[in-house]
Amino acid sequence: MKKNQHLFLIGFMGAGKSTIGAKLAHKLTREFIDLDKTIEIAEEMTIPELFSSKGERYFREKESESLKEIKGEKVIATGGGVLYFEDTLSWMKENGTVIYLHAPFSVLHERIAQDTNRPVAVRSTKDQLEKIFMERHTNFQRAAEISVSTHCDVEETIFNILKKIGQHS
Ligand code: S3P
Repeated sequence: MKKNQHLFLIGFMGAGKSTIGAKLAHKLTREFIDLDKTIEIAEEMTIPELFSSKGERYFREKESESLKEIKGEKVIATGGGVLYFEDTLSWMKENGTVIYLHAPFSVLHERIAQDTNRPVAVRSTKDQLEKIFMERHTNFQRAAEISVSTHCDVEETIFNILKKIGQHS
């Protein structure tokens, strides 16, 4: 028996973790938690402010701590770098189901290219981002019990998640 029964949405920036997470939670009548928002509220700073004033390492530590404090059966949209620390994945596996939301890099890049709220995207060239994507994609694939494409309609993604977790009627 797992300690908690969360649904963790993992995936690269722009994969739709927050949008899909909120709708999925609504469908399942579960509480939705956006991990980035939780950190911003706790730290009273935006993510870009946190990166520039306290550094990436601090943000990663807060991300990991905040995640591990969540109890119950929530739907949790994680940040794209959530697997930064090795022990985070084993914690997630002990506390719920890990779902990888994926799309091709070209699609993700289009979605995030103009966004100034993602420091990792802002500081990287397209080639650098693609390299990060390839590394993370391998890790996300290995980590996830369920993988679902978000290169389609939001409703279709949700339908596919519900089907894979056995909640579709
Ligand atoms: C990050 C992704 C962001 C946020 C932070 C770092 C990353 O979340 O946690 O800017 O390293 O990929 P999203 O995946 O929701 O954009």
